[in-house]
Amino acid sequence: MSVPAENVPPHVAIIMDGNGRWAKQRGLPRIEGHRRGVETVRNVTFAARDLGVRMLTLYAFSIENWKRPPEEVGALMGLLEYYLKKELDTFVRDRVRFRTIGRTEELPAGVQKHLRTTIEETKCFTDYTLVLALNYGSRAEIVDAARAYAAAVAAGKEKLNDGSWSTFSRYLYTADMPDPDLVIRTSGEKRISNFLSLQAAYAEFVFTPVLWPDFGKDDLSAAIADYNRRERRFGQTSEQVVAPAKAHRK
Ligand code: IPE
Ligand code: IPE
Ligand code: MG
Repeated sequence: MSVPAENVPPHVAIIMDGNGRWAKQRGLPRIEGHRRGVETVRNVTFAARDLGVRMLTLYAFSIENWKRPPEEVGALMGLLEYYLKKELDTFVRDRVRFRTIGRTEELPAGVQKHLRTTIEETKCFTDYTLVLALNYGSRAEIVDAARAYAAAVAAGKEKLNDGSWSTFSRYLYTADMPDPDLVIRTSGEKRISNFLSLQAAYAEFVFTPVLWPDFGKDDLSAAIADYNRRERRFGQTSEQVVAPAKAHRK
């Protein structure tokens, strides 16, 4: 399935869900599902780029995920470190810029070290960016942003009365990122679980029953095709949105 370049959402965000159920269906431990999930991350990172996506944000660990059994959290952190170590060369070779959103300062020291290296070594790439949401939660993000904004006002760097969304949003983790155009959630759940609530205010949502370890390029293409059947109105009427295109064709 191919999509004309102009119809590809520039920023796709994915809530990668269903690793545990994938493993359970096969009588395997949950961690095996997470291992397979990492393989999917690899494939989808390059599938998205091949399809013309410019930025891919993957929800890898939520603030609420600390509530899972300690063995699972430990295994996830181990997998993350392994993934970062293994992918660095590929990112450099294939010119993938890597960055993160979330309270990464609360992650284990080993993970933080690899995050810093990967971010540093790939910061010069501009064509395609992979963003991992790690220890991320929208509510924590707004609290952190409000705190930083208040400090800037107290320091005289911002004027409270000028406070617009464009000013305030510079204090979010996503300050220099475009908003997601398309948010996909795998595994059949239809909720956002504290992911990019503010940034996805006008995103299109696609919910697919496919479990994350089974998600592939065709599923991504199908989600993009679904996105292309939508009309994004941003508060305007359908006529207003369609008119410029018609006017252009005259
Ligand atoms: C998503 O898969 C991975 C993370 C949240 C880290 P899950 O582990 O949530 O899988 P299910 O929902 O139990 O199937
Ligand atoms: C959301 O998945 C978090 C990530 C994908 C990292 P969860 O599986 O943790 O979400 P809930 O608990 O079912 O809402
Ligand atoms: Mg889940």
